[in-house]
Amino acid sequence: MGNAITRRGFVTVVAAGLLATGLAACGNSDTGDDAGDGNGKIVLGFSQVGAESGWRTANTNSIKESAAAAGIELKFDDAQQKQENQIKAIRNFIQQKVDVIAFSPVVESGWDTVLKEAKDAGIPVILTDRSVDSADKSLYQTFIGSDFVKEGRLSGEWLVEQTKNATGPVNIVELQGTTGSAPANDRKKGFAEAIAANPNLKIIASQTGDFTRAGGKAVMEQFLKANPKIDVLFAHNDDMGLGALEAITAAGKVPGKDITIITIDAVKDGMQALADGRFNFIAECSPLLGDQLMELVKKVHAGESVPARVETEETTFTQEQAKAALPNRKY
Ligand code: AHR
Repeated sequence: MGNAITRRGFVTVVAAGLLATGLAACGNSDTGDDAGDGNGKIVLGFSQVGAESGWRTANTNSIKESAAAAGIELKFDDAQQKQENQIKAIRNFIQQKVDVIAFSPVVESGWDTVLKEAKDAGIPVILTDRSVDSADKSLYQTFIGSDFVKEGRLSGEWLVEQTKNATGPVNIVELQGTTGSAPANDRKKGFAEAIAANPNLKIIASQTGDFTRAGGKAVMEQFLKANPKIDVLFAHNDDMGLGALEAITAAGKVPGKDITIITIDAVKDGMQALADGRFNFIAECSPLLGDQLMELVKKVHAGESVPARVETEETTFTQEQAKAALPNRKY
């Protein structure tokens, strides 16, 4: 378990493209309270993906706590992992004339129309956690979140290192996140690119488990039935990996030993599994975006320029590192 990356850090501004033009187009330079609540606070409409994972719960808590601490009035909507619910929520926010809209898009595509409606209404939009594939970057002010391709790449590079002396095929199964979502697309891409360095590494099955424990368990059961030799599981998040543990144990195999397990997120339950040796490696994805998001909300509302992308730095964990980090883990 060699190539630990211990670098911790927080926000890196990776692209300092200024978006003053977009802000000017939005024309939102008043002091708040457009939504008419009469308390003088900035009103933020936030559409969350859902409550599919431990990561998401931590992200929701972070946003709610940070909004309260920043004195921002939060109108929060849970889209239950459905794009149509998010579009409806954004339209409601527009109708209520909130000051700023932020959302974590469940999938990457299909946002242009509603984003244009927000722009036409003069309401700036901030993307959090997940991005969109819109060609027109003026439809939103900034994106704050992780580099998902890098998370997949770090996971693949660790596996390449672990298997450098393998003489035969190493069979990998992949539990993908929600189909069409940025983290599923990007983690798959980064991992595939990294493992190309070792021709022995082969993805023999890859299917979505929708980022949930139940999904991870059900799909892993199918993988185990269909494939007598599985050496590695790459799960796009901890929760699917945790669900898969149940399927692996039920199939009479020892997770972390018979099957090497790599996941992404590093929430407490995942870190515990890693510390216990049931997982083997985790690439971190921080859900604690609330404070930075509120800073951006204040800036875009005040008409200040913001970077095009604000990226949270990634770290990775081996078993020993998970043991050391667990006592102070916040989520
Ligand atoms: O978009 C971030 C991903 O969404 C997290 O990795 C996953 O746990 C969540 O559901």
